[in-house]
Amino acid sequence: TFELILQRSQMRLPVGPGESMADVLQLAGVPLETLCEQGVCGTCVTRWLDGEPDHRDSCLSAAEQATHVAVCCARSHSATLTLDL
Ligand code: FES
Repeated sequence: TFELILQRSQMRLPVGPGESMADVLQLAGVPLETLCEQGVCGTCVTRWLDGEPDHRDSCLSAAEQATHVAVCCARSHSATLTLDL
């Protein structure tokens, strides 16, 4: 379990082991589009600001992963992950 911090929305949302960040965001009413939900299409790619994402996509380059994360499949190595949402 880790916690998402949404910088612009000023929200904190816990993400459990069986759910994706995208699921949690959508359930909380945060506008987010997803398509493949497998880290392939890039639709869900979101800018991250703080923390250490555990990237699991196959669509972003290492340079892109330094600033963006595919929230349909990524997890977090850090206890909190801050997104630009
Ligand atoms: Fe396709 Fe996340 S929805 S990469």
